[in-house]
Amino acid sequence: MAPVATNETAPLNHQVLKAKEDEKVFNPFYSPAIADDGDSTYKFAQYKPTFPDVKWEPLTEQKVVERGLFADPDKRALLSAASKVKHLTPAIGTEIHGIDLRQLSDVQRDELALLIAERGVVFFREQELTIQEQLDLAAHWGPLHRHATTPIPKQPGLDTVHVVYNDHSRRPDPSAFSKLELWHSDVSYEIQPPGATSLKVITGPEYGGDTLWSSGYALYSFLSPGMQKYLEGLTALHSAVAQAEGAKAAGLPVRRDPIETVHPVVRVHPATGWKSVYVNPGFTRRILGVPKAESDNILSFLFRQISENVDFQVRFKWEPNSIAIWDNRVVTHSATFDFWPATRHALRATPHAERPLSVEEYERITGKEAKDRQIEIWRQQGIEDPRQNGTAKARPRGYND
Ligand code: SIN
Repeated sequence: MAPVATNETAPLNHQVLKAKEDEKVFNPFYSPAIADDGDSTYKFAQYKPTFPDVKWEPLTEQKVVERGLFADPDKRALLSAASKVKHLTPAIGTEIHGIDLRQLSDVQRDELALLIAERGVVFFREQELTIQEQLDLAAHWGPLHRHATTPIPKQPGLDTVHVVYNDHSRRPDPSAFSKLELWHSDVSYEIQPPGATSLKVITGPEYGGDTLWSSGYALYSFLSPGMQKYLEGLTALHSAVAQAEGAKAAGLPVRRDPIETVHPVVRVHPATGWKSVYVNPGFTRRILGVPKAESDNILSFLFRQISENVDFQVRFKWEPNSIAIWDNRVVTHSATFDFWPATRHALRATPHAERPLSVEEYERITGKEAKDRQIEIWRQQGIEDPRQNGTAKARPRGYND
């Protein structure tokens, strides 16, 4: 960025130039806030964001063991230790009380992986675990991801931590981004995008700064059988380029060259065997092998369902020491930016999962049939798929409230 005049007696055109530089806004999703309020007495100052100017090699494929496959399907070791287990919506989200994440055995960690895979996101409050303990838990589920552009903590040795930090010194500008494009699945452009990803809020506003998650399983189940089949045969391009360009535009280093990766539009979670729509507004750019207009319209339809279909969503109200753990393979999420000038500070641990499996790959590799989550749940409840003609136990109804 070119130096700008700061002298009050500078010629008028220099003052105008400085004003423009000061006003320059970036997309806060792609271009994280560069500076903070400079308060070094803040109790978590060591976790404030920094952007080291280093260069990392491209990621290569890594071995990942799906821990959810080792879990007792009833999750007895985990759930019997809880004082309360509350599902927040039918489609997504469960809050667990009475468990200290520092105390989990490996058996309980495996069961938690399966619960997160089934429910999309699981919440805990009053968790004292340190960032090192949060990383250890995440590493049980997969090798830890290092982000190419987003900030890491100032404390050395934490380059696998993704810092989320906002304070009064930067006000999100609504002209810089739309709410739709904030919906994303973390780093879905990677060859092996993440699975059970945890975010712990260490400082937060009294209210505001909620996060929303939307279920890819529920989106799949909602579609007509013809549309489901059509999407199952498609692949889409996920791109890191805009995020890298956003970092560069903000004068920040890009620590690993951006990549673009092709993933199936419908993937199957290896632990649940359920099908989930795997596209997101943040990083999915186009569906391959169909006319561009068709790709644009299909993606736009899916993105709007993710962002506006409230039946697929859960919204979490954080408190300091709350932690959310979501499975990025089967959910997308979006933060709210309604809390300025309060400080909101959170730390994320992000384990890699497998290379996404299409329905065809999952069925060929495992010899099992991939399933529609909603139909499976109805079946467990003794209900036949009510959408099939002639078998309906409940007649369809409209909205009249
Ligand atoms: C993230 O995208 O991982 C952070 C979400 C949030 O800040 O709530």
